[in-house]
Amino acid sequence: MRNFDQFTITQAVFTRIANGQDRRVHEISSALVRHLHDFIREVRPTQEEWTEGIAFLTDVGHMCTQTRQEFILLSDTLGVSMLVDAINHDHKGVATESTVLGPFYVESPPEFACGADISGDLAGAPIFVSGSVATADGAALAGAIVDVWHSDEDGYYDVQSTVPDAGLAARARFRTDAAGRFHFWSIKPAAYPIPHDGPVGKMLEAQGRHPWRPAHVHFMIEAPGHERLVTHVFVAGDQYLDSDAVFGVKDSLIREFTPCAAGTAPDGRQMDRDYCHLHYDFRLLPAAQAASQAA
Ligand code: BEZ
Ligand code: FE
Repeated sequence: MRNFDQFTITQAVFTRIANGQDRRVHEISSALVRHLHDFIREVRPTQEEWTEGIAFLTDVGHMCTQTRQEFILLSDTLGVSMLVDAINHDHKGVATESTVLGPFYVESPPEFACGADISGDLAGAPIFVSGSVATADGAALAGAIVDVWHSDEDGYYDVQSTVPDAGLAARARFRTDAAGRFHFWSIKPAAYPIPHDGPVGKMLEAQGRHPWRPAHVHFMIEAPGHERLVTHVFVAGDQYLDSDAVFGVKDSLIREFTPCAAGTAPDGRQMDRDYCHLHYDFRLLPAAQAASQAA
């Protein structure tokens, strides 16, 4: 086969990839070729635009390091991460909704007893966070693992610190008690711009977009026999709730960080200054249901 033109080349590629042994690889490859070719036929890039596109993807690759994953940022900002999440985790009305993991999760975070203050040396407005973990039917899940992480009052995560050997902060793992509950103290997170000093930042600028995410606390919750939940709780009233740079906001994940006066806090701690209280009750989908939804 030879002499392909813009009308025959797509079929030629389909024919060339038809003999692969793995059906899923074949399905994905054919859809990729079909959509890529249709995209090119629609956009009709000049040779210079195509070169620029290749240079952009090359820059995205060069920006990646152990601590910076520019391809995930590209997927996040094009809404692809949330589309994959929506297809694989359709929890609405059944269990707590999920959202993007983001790049700032650290495997095996330090474990604390409930009631701990996880803010380390960080300054900020105190928050008391309480919650529970239950099955989709509302039965308490004791011993569930609750990982939390969030930004400081300036919108930075501990792992973004430029101070050498800066420790982890505003990040922890808790286990729920016999009633499926947990609680801890920290500082109020702030809205922050996603890393935008690389090619994805340039893309956002060219698209006339801002890089900001509304303030939130990340949660990753695991319990035996249940689907792992990756989600955030967003601060009600944040100015970026309707324009999150990564399209991650869902109404069911927004909560008031209720202002409370100094005095005896819900866990008995004597607070000498005002604080905010965030409460969220999480519900997990059974693992079997998660598997059948994904099929
Ligand atoms: C985050 O919430 O940590 C995050 C998510 C997506 C991109 C950048 C940051
Ligand atoms: Fe975040």
